[in-house]
Amino acid sequence: MEQKIKKLISEVESFTASVKDDVEAFRLKYLSKKGIIPSLFGEMKNVSPEERKNFGLLVNDLKNKAEEKLNSFRELLESSEGQKEVPDLSLPGEPKSLGARHPISIVRRRILEIFSHIGFTVEYGPEIEDDWHNFTALNFPENHPARDMQDTFFIRSGESSKDDIALRTHTSSVQVRIMETQKPPIRILAPGRVYRNEAISARAHCFFHQVEGLYVDEGVSFADLKQTLMYFAKEMFDADTKIRLRPSYFPFTEPSAEMDVSCNICSGKGCNVCKYTGWLEILGCGMVDPNVLENCKIDSKKYTGFAFGMGIERIAMLKYNINDLRLFSENDVRFLKQFISA
Ligand code: PHE
Repeated sequence: MEQKIKKLISEVESFTASVKDDVEAFRLKYLSKKGIIPSLFGEMKNVSPEERKNFGLLVNDLKNKAEEKLNSFRELLESSEGQKEVPDLSLPGEPKSLGARHPISIVRRRILEIFSHIGFTVEYGPEIEDDWHNFTALNFPENHPARDMQDTFFIRSGESSKDDIALRTHTSSVQVRIMETQKPPIRILAPGRVYRNEAISARAHCFFHQVEGLYVDEGVSFADLKQTLMYFAKEMFDADTKIRLRPSYFPFTEPSAEMDVSCNICSGKGCNVCKYTGWLEILGCGMVDPNVLENCKIDSKKYTGFAFGMGIERIAMLKYNINDLRLFSENDVRFLKQFISA
C-alpha cells in the first residue's frame, strides 16, 4: 500500500499538462469526487490501526502535492492565455482626463508676464506678518482708524499693537521687506494670498489673491505710473481699453488713486456688469509716501516711487465674466476646466 501511494506521488509530480483538457484530466483522475485521492481516504477505515497514521500522512501528502500541481497548471494556463490575447486596435481609446490650470493661476501668470516685459521681477513674502511690515512701516499710525480699512485676522494680539502678529491683509508687506533689504532702483511685483475678516459672499471672501507692484528710483513720477498702468490694461484686456484714475486714499501713498478700465463687456456703452457707468474699478495705486521710504531707510529726497495693488480674482471675474467669488475656492472641476489661457 505504502509503495502504491509513493508511486502515485511521483506520478503526480511528473505529470505535465499544457492545454486545458490535460489539466481537467489531471483533476478528474486525482482530485474529483470519484478520483484516486478521495477513494484512498475512503479506504482509510480498512487499514489496520498500526498502519493508519502512516497511511493518513502519505495520502495527505499526495493530496497536497496534487492540489499544488493543479494550481500551478491553472496559473500557467491563465498567463499563457493572457499573452495570446490580441488587442483590438479598432476599439475607441480610453479618455484620459487631464487637469486644468486654475483661473487664478492663469491670470496671475499673465499679470507677471505683462510686467516682466517692462523689467519687473517677482518677490515673495510670508503670509503671517508682524505689525511693522503690514501696517506701521506703511504709515498706518498706531490706533489709527485707517487700520480698520482692512479687517485683520490676528494670530497674536500683543500688549501694544507693535507686537501684533497677523495674517497679512495685503502684499504691500512684501514691498516693505524688499525696500528694507534692496537698494533702488527697485522694480518688483509681489503676488500672493491675503486674508481679511469678511463675511463670505458672492463679492467678498476671507482670503483672496493680490499682485502688488513697486517702482522706486530717482525721478519716478505720477506720469510713469499712469503710463505703466495703461500699458498693463491694454495688454490684460484689449488694445482699445481706456483707463481713468480717481482720487483715493491709502496711508502708504500720496497722492493715491483708484484706477478704472473701460468696461470690456459693453465697450463703455453701459451694462449690468459696469452698472451702466461704462467703467470697472480694477486697482489702487499712488506715489509711495516719503514716510514709507524713510521707514525703510531709503532717502526720500533722492528717490521717489509708485506702487499699485490689484486683486487677481477681480481681474479674473472681469476677464471671464464670472459673477461669484466663491467659485474660485470651491474646486468644482466643471468650473475649473473651462479656462485655457488669459
Ligand atoms: N494695498 C492696497 C490694498 O490692499 C492696494 C494698494 C497697493 C494701493 C499699492 C496703493 C498702492 O487695497
